[in-house]
Amino acid sequence: MVTRSRKLFAFPVILGAVGLVAAQAAPRQDVPPDVAYRQSVMQGLRAHTGAIRAIANGSVPHQGHLVEHARAVQDLAVMMGDVFPEGSGGEASDTRDDLWDRWDAFQEKLTAFQQATVHLTDAAESGDAEALREAASEVTQGCRGCHGEFRKED
Ligand code: HEC
Repeated sequence: MVTRSRKLFAFPVILGAVGLVAAQAAPRQDVPPDVAYRQSVMQGLRAHTGAIRAIANGSVPHQGHLVEHARAVQDLAVMMGDVFPEGSGGEASDTRDDLWDRWDAFQEKLTAFQQATVHLTDAAESGDAEALREAASEVTQGCRGCHGEFRKED
């Protein structure tokens, strides 16, 4: 319980520190806010799926964080439904411009991905390692499948 209250207290401080670093680094000057925000949601997905991988393969012992990371992935997947407003592609974005012409196909990918993230949370809550492995693989396929079709290649 002490840990939890400390965490809550430290949260705004950590956010402030991260904001400061981001402002100083200013890596991509001309990124419109809606594109930058979308990329933040994606970075969140990467961070939480990476954390789940590290816990699942035993590199770190934080089993007690597993469900929260899975819930974060599920929540971010829901947010993804809001972060592709019409016309938010262009130079600064790695989203392919034809995404908006193929909106239904995109929605299909997104819906399947959201479903996979629900399976991930269910598996994390169940504590079943095999179920977690399967759900994590389904989620990863969702990332790759959508990137393959809708993200510009490097
Ligand atoms: C339904 C489609 C879709 C799914 C599912 C998806 N992504 Fe993405 N992702 C994109 C698109 C499109 C971009 C390009 C965003 C842009 O720059 O406009 C992107 C960009 C990214 C980026 C780069 C962000 C940056 O800073 O430029 C990362 C990292 C990323 N995704 C991680 C993930 C991970 C991890 C998952 C799965 C857990 C995932 N994505 C699932 C469509 C998707």
